[in-house]
Amino acid sequence: LSNGSVEKEKTLAMIKPDGLSGNYTDEIKKVILESGFSILRERVVRLDEDGAKTFYAEHSSRSFFSSLIKYMTSGPVLAMVLEKENAITDWRALIGPTDAKKAKISHPHSIRAMCGLDSEKNCVHGSDSPESAQREMSFFFQEMSSDEVTRHDEL
Ligand code: TYD
Ligand code: MG
Repeated sequence: LSNGSVEKEKTLAMIKPDGLSGNYTDEIKKVILESGFSILRERVVRLDEDGAKTFYAEHSSRSFFSSLIKYMTSGPVLAMVLEKENAITDWRALIGPTDAKKAKISHPHSIRAMCGLDSEKNCVHGSDSPESAQREMSFFFQEMSSDEVTRHDEL
């Protein structure tokens, strides 16, 4: 940017039902803030079946889908909008691989290694691209229309 400041990016982070019920929220937020992210929005939501299916629509034909929906609707989740330079990639790196069992071996300091159980109950979510980030932020924070997301990014 012309004024020399660093361009920031937003991503959608979510603490899944086992993360909330296991009381990992404070520990995860500590990692988030110590890693230089700002938490712009947060909201506790109990997803219903339609909501969970919409959020994970890209996986609807996978064999694990119905089990995933059951897990995601088993209790409240905490959705957050995180912001920093390179937020999408950096948050994905911080949470570690999808399979928390593997994360414990290959990425022992990752968040999924810390609080996840396996490839389904992996405790946290992170958007995987700018397109998913925009879709997922609008899913949880309806006031964050694509217009608003774009406008903020251009400031
Ligand atoms: P995916 O997008 O592949 O992983 P990530 O969360 O790392 O982006 O899968 C979405 C979710 O689907 C994943 O977090 C947990 C669930 N899932 C399973 O239950 N079993 C599986 O084998 C996979 C790959 C995912
Ligand atoms: Mg994914």
